[in-house]
Amino acid sequence: MKTNPGIIVDALRAAGEPTRLRILALLRHGELAVGELVAVLGQSQPRLSHHLKTLTAAGLTERLPEGAWVFYRLPAKGWPNTLLEGLFDQIDLSQCDFPADSARLDSVREARRSAADDFFSSIAQDWDRLRSMHYPEDLIEAAILKIAGPGPFQRVVDLGTGTGRMLALFGDRAKDVEGLDLSHQMLQLARAKLAESGIGHARLRQGDATATPFESSSADVVIVHQVLHYLEDADRVLAEASRILVPGGQLIIVDFAQHDHEFMREDFGHRRLGIRDDNMKSWADRAGLILDSPVRFEPPKQLEKGIAVQIWPATKPSDHKEVAA
Ligand SMILES: C[S@@+](CC[C@H](N)C(=O)[O-])C[C@H]1O[C@@H](n2cnc3c(N)ncnc32)[C@H](O)[C@@H]1O
Repeated sequence: MKTNPGIIVDALRAAGEPTRLRILALLRHGELAVGELVAVLGQSQPRLSHHLKTLTAAGLTERLPEGAWVFYRLPAKGWPNTLLEGLFDQIDLSQCDFPADSARLDSVREARRSAADDFFSSIAQDWDRLRSMHYPEDLIEAAILKIAGPGPFQRVVDLGTGTGRMLALFGDRAKDVEGLDLSHQMLQLARAKLAESGIGHARLRQGDATATPFESSSADVVIVHQVLHYLEDADRVLAEASRILVPGGQLIIVDFAQHDHEFMREDFGHRRLGIRDDNMKSWADRAGLILDSPVRFEPPKQLEKGIAVQIWPATKPSDHKEVAA
């Protein structure tokens, strides 16, 4: 579908200013907070906020508030994406301010990474302890990829993405990968880790997995990895996943199987002691999803307090009819 010429004129006007073009060039490396753009471009915050407002009004950037921070990113699809790709195809980025901006961006990202590392070291011990209680993670991840199939996928959405591990896992199989998490600190960590692994097209958003900002029927794969045991209203995550999935799309839930380690509530803040199969079945039924048999990974035999992990694959039927809210 073609776009109204007035809209394109506004977009070209917005992009046709040196600082705004530098902002667009920087955002091609991934989303950035206003403070980070201030650090790279060396201009005042009010001035940059004004430029960002112009770019957003013209449809060339998207504004994503995250707690006290606001992130900006380039649209992943539609005419703005095509227009910007065409534009940057023609620009020699080894000239003018672009190389220096790019070098300053590297140091801003390095600072982001070290702040994220500090946060991670405060939780890493708990995570290591948990990890040692179950089947090796890399083998579970291989099973997830096998269940999902080779792709390529259009869009993979990871609800409760944490450090973005699932986005990295699916990064080279999907055109678009997007993660959602409640925690700003987790998202900062994910940003650092994804940049490190070169998954430049991954996108992140702050939000609640029980009421996401994502469009209906927009993803061919949704993943919920080690999240449901924290939630009272886990059924709402399945309902939301079903809404986001295209008909025929697949949901992959990975979590602890039902267990009786009461200490995990106290030590790790788990709300549920794993997920019961009958609960999962009734949540899937209510969400209009077809649940497959779970794949189970027993804990290493020598562990006294081991814990089994399960993958519950589910599909949204191809003839699924959306029910109006
Ligand atoms: C144990 S971590 C798992 C992270 C990631 N899925 C993985 O397996 O590596 C659980 C994550 O769920 C997030 N979380 C908890 N409740 C959430 C909710 N209602 N909506 C979105 N994220 C949530 C937490 O912030 C945390 O990052």
